[in-house]
Amino acid sequence: MSKLYWIETWGCQMNEHDSEKMAGTLLGLGYDQATRLQDADIILLNTCAIREKAEERVYSTLSQLEHLKKARPETIIGVTGCVAQMSGEQVRERMPFVDLVIGPRASSRLPDILGKLKDHRGIVDTTLYQDSIIRGQDAIRRAPGKVKAFVTIMEGCNKTCSYCIVPTTRGREDSRPLEDILKEVESLVEQGYREIEFLGQNVNAYRDPKTHDGLDILLYRAGEFAALDRIRFTTSHPLHLSTKIIEAMSRVKAACNYLHLPVQSGSDRILRLMRRGYTARKFRDKVAEIREAIPEIALSTDVIVGFPGESEEDYQATLDLLEELRFSQLFSFVYSKRPGTSAATMMDEDEDKTKVSRLMALQAAQREIQADIHRTMLGRTVEVLIEGPSRKDPREVAGRMPQNIMVNFPGEGLRPGDLARVLLTDATPVSFRGRLIRGPLERRIPARSRNARSAFGA
Ligand code: SAH
Ligand code: SF4
Ligand code: F3S
Repeated sequence: MSKLYWIETWGCQMNEHDSEKMAGTLLGLGYDQATRLQDADIILLNTCAIREKAEERVYSTLSQLEHLKKARPETIIGVTGCVAQMSGEQVRERMPFVDLVIGPRASSRLPDILGKLKDHRGIVDTTLYQDSIIRGQDAIRRAPGKVKAFVTIMEGCNKTCSYCIVPTTRGREDSRPLEDILKEVESLVEQGYREIEFLGQNVNAYRDPKTHDGLDILLYRAGEFAALDRIRFTTSHPLHLSTKIIEAMSRVKAACNYLHLPVQSGSDRILRLMRRGYTARKFRDKVAEIREAIPEIALSTDVIVGFPGESEEDYQATLDLLEELRFSQLFSFVYSKRPGTSAATMMDEDEDKTKVSRLMALQAAQREIQADIHRTMLGRTVEVLIEGPSRKDPREVAGRMPQNIMVNFPGEGLRPGDLARVLLTDATPVSFRGRLIRGPLERRIPARSRNARSAFGA
């Protein structure tokens, strides 16, 4: 009987995808996926360190695993991802039963590390390998049943935002050769994937290591795969959103009318303290430029409230910016102090209560904005890429518009990966209900000639 693995994942898309890579590696080593955590021979916690709560969750999960480890000492327990990188040896100081601590850029070394583990336990590898972007990409076990595939194009972040742990946990920026990326895209298209999401902590800073071609060129080239319906990329930094990239987005048919563009604050004073490198004016100008080029685009953003020293006035500036720019989605967080970051030494006197109530008010305002945006969209017919049964009502199907908004509708006979034209009939602040107008839509090129559905597990 083969050995079994279990991977628990927290954090962003990069972490989700790293788990897919580690799963691929483990399958290559002869492991199978466990259906229950308690059956696994190796348990990996792929962790996120972005806020204190995310970090705490890791330790509370580890405390629960201690019992399992006592009952079955041969089970390998590993901590990977950003907490592993941030805390290294300290993870084992707090939880001595942990066998492995592996940083995100050392995870391609998993086979060697597991080999060494036979002799001794307690291996910590937090090397920020430069070649992590190249190694370990052939064996990826993508989560089954998805129409979208993640593809890493760059790793790391050279920015120095004062609140952020990511440059510490993911290291300096490294980009993958463009031709390598295209080969992976080609193979994914052949497997039947209709949507690709390019990933990088600072994705629009992508540069081919030799030719220096940027994300714009990659979009044009990936756009040449006729069977690829949709291309997304995340996360973009406003400073790297060049006119060339905007132009490529508007010209490449498969590039979705959607962009996640984190603003973080609407106050110039706070933006300066955050070291974001732009003013609110500059951000507004970028948004104006992209909306001029792509009128249908939906923009989403991230905001941090309660940054050290944030005044009522600063907060109001953020609220004003949200009211004015009207994002289609907002991811908002209360500031969380991260060890070793420069903001960690700033005076932070505001009470948590104030911060939480600011967050609540911000989210309430955003809900109104979204409800409003969605109301104006009713009556339109949109293209939906079916992802699967609707969560609310399994007799219906659910899919996304290019703008990344979910649409639920009765779509008998439609399957994951199908495209449909759907009339938007009802709206909530987070999704739509619709009526099927036409679908599945004919495509010029079938995804692949043989076995076209197996990528979706159907
Ligand atoms: N590379 C992306 C962000 C990655 S982290 C960018 O530059 O925008 C995702 C989001 O988490 C950030 O946009 C920010 O809003 C939030 N975040 C990061 N550090 C945080 C902290 N210390 N406290 C609260 N939120 C934080
Ligand atoms: Fe963090 Fe800033 Fe880099 Fe984004 S750009 S990952 S917020 S340091
Ligand atoms: Fe979290 Fe690391 Fe992603 S800190 S958000 S998992 S890059």
